[in-house]
Amino acid sequence: MAKLTKAQRKAHAEAEAILTKDRLSEDEQDFVFQNWHEGANHISGASGAFFTPWGLAADFSIDAASAGAKVIDLCAGIGILSYFLHHRAKYTNNCPDLTCVEVNPRYVEIGRKLVPEARWICADVFDWREELKGERFDVAVSNPPFGSVKRSGNGPRYRGRLFEFHVIDIAAELADSGAFIVPQRSAAFRYSGMPCHQRVETGPAVNYQKLSGYQLHEGAGVDTSFYKDDWKDTSILCEITCYEFTEDRARQGRVQKRLSGQPVPALPHRPAEQLALR
Ligand SMILES: C[S@@+](CC[C@H](N)C(=O)[O-])C[C@H]1O[C@@H](n2cnc3c(N)ncnc32)[C@H](O)[C@@H]1O
Repeated sequence: MAKLTKAQRKAHAEAEAILTKDRLSEDEQDFVFQNWHEGANHISGASGAFFTPWGLAADFSIDAASAGAKVIDLCAGIGILSYFLHHRAKYTNNCPDLTCVEVNPRYVEIGRKLVPEARWICADVFDWREELKGERFDVAVSNPPFGSVKRSGNGPRYRGRLFEFHVIDIAAELADSGAFIVPQRSAAFRYSGMPCHQRVETGPAVNYQKLSGYQLHEGAGVDTSFYKDDWKDTSILCEITCYEFTEDRARQGRVQKRLSGQPVPALPHRPAEQLALR
């Protein structure tokens, strides 16, 4: 468990007190998001549970713009990414239809109070086939655990050690597009905290692209280094990466058709097994 400062302990206790209420005002929800400390009673590092800082989650919602869309938030924590998607869209009267999947029951309990608009599923993301039973989404979002965190399974194609690519791989099966917060080394570019944008030609993101055919896109250009010191119990450089899964499948289909002269299976969705490049 993290060692909290006196001020952090006090604010966390206040957030806990607020959470005993059945319904929270928007101000109370904001307070809990900013002050409930994931390291107070849980070992954040072991489960990769570092929640997205407030300001970064607000910026992320630009890249995951999803007014009116059916959205799945994978490894949702207490729901900060979904919270901003809802609140960004609410003045348009076109809020997204949100589903949050999170394995920690306490986080789900809190999430239900902070983002009551979402459907909350307390489940392991690797059980997505049983839990979501063929459902399709327009957009997937995630700030998943980073790196070699313990997991119960694999994505449909990816067999590496990086949790974030397993989640992206699952998202590709569930949604047409996705926006993800990943450690900088897992992006195919370096932008945050750098003097200029740089595309990289090697590394895990490029390998995943070769494996899956899904191309990583830069988002709107959020420099996440601005929030580097706002994470609780960690300080990390990350990037926001975006994927257009259905568009890429269509492109792959057209290429395959050109090469083989054969008709390709109906789009938009083909099961992972057909796409596996071994
Ligand atoms: C880096 S935190 C981010 C939480 C939230 N997305 C956010 O942006 O604040 C990752 C979350 O993934 C959850 N998690 C870890 N393994 C999981 C799994 N197998 N299935 C679902 N959630 C998982 C953790 O409990 C934690 O809440």
